[in-house]
Amino acid sequence: MDVQNVKQRFGIIGNSTLLNRAIDVAMQVASTDLTVLITGESGSGKEVFPQIIHHLSPRKHGNYIAVNCGAIPEGTIDSELFGHEKGSFTGAHEARKGYFEVANGGTIFLDEVAELPLSTQVRLLRVLESGEFMKVGSSKMIKTDVRVVAATNVNVPEAIEKGKFRQDLYYRLNSVPIYIPPLRERKEDIHLLFRKFSADFAEKYRMPPLRLSESAVQMLENYRWPGNVRQLKNITEQISIIEQDKQIDAESLHQYLPDTNQRVLPVLYDKNQEEHFSERDLLYKVLFDMRSDINDLKQAVIQILDNDKVSMEKSRAILVKSADQEHLNLMHHNQDNFEHEVKIMHHRDDEDKSEEFHPTEVIEESLSLQDKEKEMIRKALEKHHGKRKDAADELGISERTLYRKIKEYKIR
Ligand SMILES: Nc1ncnc2c1ncn2[C@@H]1O[C@H](COP(=O)(O)OP(=O)(O)O)[C@@H](O)[C@H]1O
Ligand SMILES: [Mg+2]
Repeated sequence: MDVQNVKQRFGIIGNSTLLNRAIDVAMQVASTDLTVLITGESGSGKEVFPQIIHHLSPRKHGNYIAVNCGAIPEGTIDSELFGHEKGSFTGAHEARKGYFEVANGGTIFLDEVAELPLSTQVRLLRVLESGEFMKVGSSKMIKTDVRVVAATNVNVPEAIEKGKFRQDLYYRLNSVPIYIPPLRERKEDIHLLFRKFSADFAEKYRMPPLRLSESAVQMLENYRWPGNVRQLKNITEQISIIEQDKQIDAESLHQYLPDTNQRVLPVLYDKNQEEHFSERDLLYKVLFDMRSDINDLKQAVIQILDNDKVSMEKSRAILVKSADQEHLNLMHHNQDNFEHEVKIMHHRDDEDKSEEFHPTEVIEESLSLQDKEKEMIRKALEKHHGKRKDAADELGISERTLYRKIKEYKIR
């Protein structure tokens, strides 16, 4: 199997030297039991690497367990990883196997490994060195044969410096380092990825794929991509859904590329405002604006929603992605705040168990907004002499929604 086969099998797009090199290292190291540490910014595409390593290794028939270390509360992480004995702490009614026991003969992927508490780091180092561990509340050594692949978007030497990560563990994990370069260092892959994602979304939403003008391609390639491939994918989805004209020029593309410096900083540095507002006030203002933007969006989405499954999926995507986008706008760093789930995979790929979308959960207006709405409904009903159908049309909501709101607000 060569690098191109691996890309095809694992759905990796891109042909930059740096990406190819990373894949090549993963392939070379797969057949060994060496520990691998994957580093790279958030959204750069780290997650597929432990899968490549597992599936090309002699352990491929064993379990593959992916643990998001940043998502497990400190209090339970030792027990999740190493298991516990019955009665070892309040609430431990049954003994439980930890991931290191379950993954015996297979591979564990420790995602966001730098988030592990120091005490857990000690336990991890021990199991890496001796292949032995003890369950929480037990003094019996258990042997396990697990291959560990870890990933982080944290600068580990810096974390060591700050006393947040153990140096000995770092050396042990870093037997084979794989660095995934940020998207801005693989410019030649950007348009390729865009085309792939836009083809995928075109299929998903049953519409023609996007096409970029030459200047739009330039813009795409010169953008900083703080959220890397994940951000590119999100933005491609947004454009696919929102733009009716599938020929995208630089001007329309520009609206989708947030520039933190332009949007947030000038407000903060405005001299006149400084006298009246503290930085915290200004931050609150940004947050408040963001919230009302999202509320507007929610309103729009609710209007779009009407039984149609496709339009429902789209609305959900807009909602999720726009929240994502706002988040990116606001944050200067690249933390993975949108991935808090722990994924456990036994021989299967990530299933997307996307929850049902409940339009009603989305409505969370402030009281004053509610008052406004109430007033608007009253006016519309008055104007149409109590005819609900006409009032609903005027308000741009369904009759059912209007009916619900009349009841909710106890309008005459
Ligand atoms: N080279 C690539 N080809 C196709 N999709 C990619 C590529 N790199 C990243 N992705 C996609 O981008 C998203 C973020 O990647 P992920 O591996 O989760 O990033 P992270 O480095 O934060 O773990 C995922 O949906 C992933 O499938
Ligand atoms: Mg990740």
